[in-house]
Amino acid sequence: MAKPKSSRSARGPKIVAVPPGPKSKAALARKEKFITNGVRVALPIDVTWAEGPFVRDADGNVYVDLVGGIGVQTVGHRPPSIVRAAKDQLDRLTHVSFMVATYGPYLDLAERMADIAPPGLTKSIFLNSGSEAIENAVKVARVATKKAWLVSFKTAFHGRTLLDISLTGKEKPYREGFGPLVREVLLADYAYPYRDPEGRAPADVAKARVEELERLINVPEAAGRVAAILAEPVQGEGGMIVPPKEFFPLLRRLCDQYGIVLIDDEVQAGAGRTGKMWAIEHWNTVPDVLVSGKAIGGGLPFGGVTGKPSVMDAPGPASLGGTFGGNPVVCAAALKAVDEIEKALPGTKRLERQIRQRLDEMAESHECVGEARGIGAMWALEFVKDRRTKEPDADLARAVQLAGLKNGLMLLTAGFYNNCVRLLPPINIPLPLMDTALDLLGDSLDMALAGKGR
Ligand SMILES: Cc1ncc(COP(=O)(O)O)c(C=O)c1O
Repeated sequence: MAKPKSSRSARGPKIVAVPPGPKSKAALARKEKFITNGVRVALPIDVTWAEGPFVRDADGNVYVDLVGGIGVQTVGHRPPSIVRAAKDQLDRLTHVSFMVATYGPYLDLAERMADIAPPGLTKSIFLNSGSEAIENAVKVARVATKKAWLVSFKTAFHGRTLLDISLTGKEKPYREGFGPLVREVLLADYAYPYRDPEGRAPADVAKARVEELERLINVPEAAGRVAAILAEPVQGEGGMIVPPKEFFPLLRRLCDQYGIVLIDDEVQAGAGRTGKMWAIEHWNTVPDVLVSGKAIGGGLPFGGVTGKPSVMDAPGPASLGGTFGGNPVVCAAALKAVDEIEKALPGTKRLERQIRQRLDEMAESHECVGEARGIGAMWALEFVKDRRTKEPDADLARAVQLAGLKNGLMLLTAGFYNNCVRLLPPINIPLPLMDTALDLLGDSLDMALAGKGR
């Protein structure tokens, strides 16, 4: 098959066979036959190539990618420097296991993480996914505090292992039937002003939520036994929930008061996604442990835990690890990914302004948009059936997603009620292309509404 032309010359999306085209349909039939039903594919296309902000399917359709492999391709698909670093590393050393011998890329990345992490977080371990990193962060916090209980939020997402799903409140699809789960977990309400039942001002929501949390950690079975609070600085799967600026400083204060480890889950919101290297920087808060993943790997599987030595050095020798964690090829790619993210960060302010303005306009002109919200390059439209009751409209979110695909736009849904469409563009997407993508999003919304006779 002829190699696709470089997308650098491409101006935008191109639909030549209404998706799913015949080749994508054939791939989906194979998926049904050979892949477990437990893995759902959100978009009915078979992808063969991607570069920068573009993805091409087997039928020749080209899409603007606002999914980025679920928030991984923060600097676009296959930046040349990352590809080159991974290829060079493949030619030297693919695997020896850091539990067997040290090697440069792991040490270089650990040094780099100490450099870019919030102050005082200088010690790391690298794993293969965000889920595995969360597991390790919790192990470290438990051994450091000699306590067992954990606090997370009902609208949170921290991964797919049995511990990770114990830390999420969304029963379906994440937990249903998979129990028994880890019992020592308290699920609190995140500061989510749009859905505050009393409609309070954001600062008051933050304060009320942390007060509730304090009552929660003092329930008899957990009182004095809470090891860690896990929090996303902006909730991703929950629906791009940006907390009020008061929320994290209050959480920090609570953790200090009770000797609780604050675990900052930056797997989705970190690594430049919100316009700063770490989203928690927006909240002027220093966590004890920071969990990274997704974009840091530059497209290769990655998870990282970076924290204060007082916490990270608590586990005994040989108690942490994994055969592949911090693989040399992944670490070599990650070092370049960090460079590329740093280079792209200054452009995110303009991108954020553009997206905010266009989504606000969409919200103003469409009753079905309950809220448009986000930060940096992490955005959502939350759809409702009625603006007053805020009854979630998950069907509309799915319809917009599918209409988007027909228009050449890759979108994901999100939200505790599955009623959000989320946008995760590369932070270095050219502004005119983002404008085109937002036009297409508006068209897709109108198409979806027309399809429902609204
Ligand atoms: C905030 C957050 N934490 C953890 C994870 C789990 O990461 P992974 O899918 O790499 O295991 C995700 C994945 O979406 C996430 O968004």
